[in-house]
This record gives sequence, structure tokens and C-alpha cells, in this order.
Amino acid sequence: MAERVMGLVKVLVTFESKYGNTRLVAEKILEGMKKVKGVRAELVEIKGVDLHRVQDYDAILIGTPNHIGGPTRGVKKFVDELGKIGLSGKTFLAFDTYLGGDCGKAVKKLEKRIAEKIPGAKVLTPGLSVKVQGMRGPVSEEELARAVEFGRRTAAQLKG
Ligand SMILES: Cc1cc2nc3c(=O)[nH]c(=O)nc-3n(C[C@H](O)[C@H](O)[C@H](O)COP(=O)(O)O)c2cc1C
Repeated sequence: MAERVMGLVKVLVTFESKYGNTRLVAEKILEGMKKVKGVRAELVEIKGVDLHRVQDYDAILIGTPNHIGGPTRGVKKFVDELGKIGLSGKTFLAFDTYLGGDCGKAVKKLEKRIAEKIPGAKVLTPGLSVKVQGMRGPVSEEELARAVEFGRRTAAQLKG
């Protein structure tokens, strides 16, 4: 069991990424979160998340690549698993990366799935949708800056 520190907001930023774009965006979100005092954010790829430890976090950010207009199968399965472990009252946010004209599509579907599958989840919207310039990137500096700002703003909001 991880330590609990009074007044500290603990955030898990987790993601799936085949080509590295969503990982890079997750790293930028974390960079932004670290600018806010009193928030401790950790980055863990979905396949490395210990489901027994998720309850230790106050907020969970979940990132997915857009695969055929929605979250990946792995991310959907992860949300379903989270739904079984009792995370009522926890705050959730979603983010995605996409290549075509699908801005916000996977994020919206992911938000919906979280709300449906995780009893008592508080879903903060809108999430972040980041356009990439090619399947394997790059991601423009402007888009990366948006991710940093999303992280900073979200952390400030969670800190209250
Ligand atoms: C199987 C597959 C399906 C995809 N479908 C879409 C799509 O429907 N719309 C879209 O905008 N991008 C689509 N993409 C592009 C990815 O969303 C984009 O390249 C993303 O940044 C990849 O993230 P990653 O580098 O973290 O794996 C698809 C990519 C793959 C591999």
C-alpha cells in the first residue's frame, strides 16, 4: 500500500501506445502536472498498472490512441477491469491521439465508457484530443504545448 500524505493529490496518468504518440502526450501532461505544488503525478503504461494500487490515487487519467474512431480494445478492457475494483468517488479524465479528422472522438467514447463501467466515477470533461502528423508522429510543438497546459490546468483543478 502506498503512503498517504495529507493534502497531497495523487494522480495516475496511464496510457496505451503502439507507436509512441500517446506516450509522448502522456509525458507532456505529466510535465504540466508537475508544475502544480501539492500534486504528485505518476506515469505508468496500462500494461504495468497494478490494479490493487489504483485505489491509492485520487484521480486517474487514461490515454488512448484513436483506433477506428474509438479507444483501443486494450483500453476498453482496462476500463472494464477498473469497474470491478471499487473506485467510487475517484476523478477520471480521458485523452487521445488521432491522425485524421477524428478530433475528440475516442476521448468522448472513452469518457462514456468510464461513466458506464466504473460505478461512482466522476468524469471531468472535456478531455484532451491531440492531432498527430503521421502514424508514428511527429506531434507538433503546438499540440505538445496544449498537452502540457492540459496537465497544468487539470492538476490545478484537482488541487482545488
Ligand atoms: C489500427 C489503427 C486504427 C486507426 N484508426 C484511426 C481512426 O479511425 N481515426 C484517426 O484519426 N486515426 C486513426 N489511427 C491513427 C492513430 O490514432 C494515431 O496514429 C495515434 O497517434 C497512434 O497512437 P500511438 O502512437 O500512441 O500508438 C489508427 C491507427 C491504427 C494503428
